[in-house]
Amino acid sequence: MNLPTKVKIVEVGPRDGLQNEKTLVPSETKIELINRLADAGLRVIEATSFVSPKWVPQMGDNAQVLQGITRHPATVYPVLAPNLQGFDAAVQAGATEVAIFAAASESFSRKNINCSIVDSLKRFEPVVCAASALDIKVRGYVSCVVGCPYEGAIDPDKVAEVAHTLFEMGCYEVSLGDTVGVGNPASIQRMIEACAKRIPVTKLAGHYHDTYGMAIANIYASLQMGMATFDASVAGLGGCPYAKGASGNVATEDVVYLLHGLGIETGIDLAKLARIGDWISSAINRPNGAKAGRAICAGTTE
Ligand code: HMG
Ligand code: MG
Repeated sequence: MNLPTKVKIVEVGPRDGLQNEKTLVPSETKIELINRLADAGLRVIEATSFVSPKWVPQMGDNAQVLQGITRHPATVYPVLAPNLQGFDAAVQAGATEVAIFAAASESFSRKNINCSIVDSLKRFEPVVCAASALDIKVRGYVSCVVGCPYEGAIDPDKVAEVAHTLFEMGCYEVSLGDTVGVGNPASIQRMIEACAKRIPVTKLAGHYHDTYGMAIANIYASLQMGMATFDASVAGLGGCPYAKGASGNVATEDVVYLLHGLGIETGIDLAKLARIGDWISSAINRPNGAKAGRAICAGTTE
């Protein structure tokens, strides 16, 4: 089997992981989390989002967080920007990479960003244009790539169409979000197959929430299709405010354990990462959602 020899992990814990926390997490804790993740070898850390604080209050300290971190020279810190207003604020705060986010489900698009899929794509065009003028890279997201909390199953061709539009618009990579975490290896492979007909698989990323415990299996199934970029959240933090009942992203510790076991390089220090997962879970008073992280911290040997 031809698995990639190297995988890029996009750590989304500080954004996707924390955005759903009801109690405001102090900015200093977020900053410490990001700094510690960079120190453990994470080279892409999604730091925050420049969305409306009325919609997602937890991200209301976006500028303080982005300006408060100590930038590791080898790490990039992308932030979400849903429109020009968010983009301008992000740039003002020092963002050097942004992410725009669309959905393959009409209802989710309206609940999440208050507009249709078509309107959202139109709204992203000036963001990509402004970013290109400033040499800022743009990553694209598609949500609900397998299922939607409001519409149920989603057609893989619809996912491919939205992903392709983002790619053609200028996104250097498109992250495919199983927002509700309902995918399994078969449905994930069908969806990747549809997308890979229109976008090189090396430009696609897997963003899998772990509601049904399938995320690690889905990553393995995606590796088999040649995918080599995965989003993950330390300690499995998170959930989406607009996808009720969805649990966090796959835990970064579990992904790194899988990849290292397969002989795939990540550049991440798993022992350090496990300690960070343990620390942030106690800091926000949550059980640690990383199985590998818990085992490592408990001193369980292989
Ligand atoms: P809207 O209400 O349609 O926006 O929201 P609007 O343009 O009509 O403006 C209304 C108000 O919002 C105005 O303020 C604007 O200034 C303000 P007011 O005059 O009423 O005081 N506003 C903003 N403020 C700060 N930053 C901005 C901004 N834009 C407008 N950028 C909007 C549209 C997109 C802003 C809103 O729906 C929103 O912020 N949604 C949040 C969506 C979100 O963050 N969701 C979670 C992240 S996505 C995700 O988790 C999925 C992912 O992980 C992949 C996966 O798992 O599937 C990526
Ligand atoms: Mg997500």
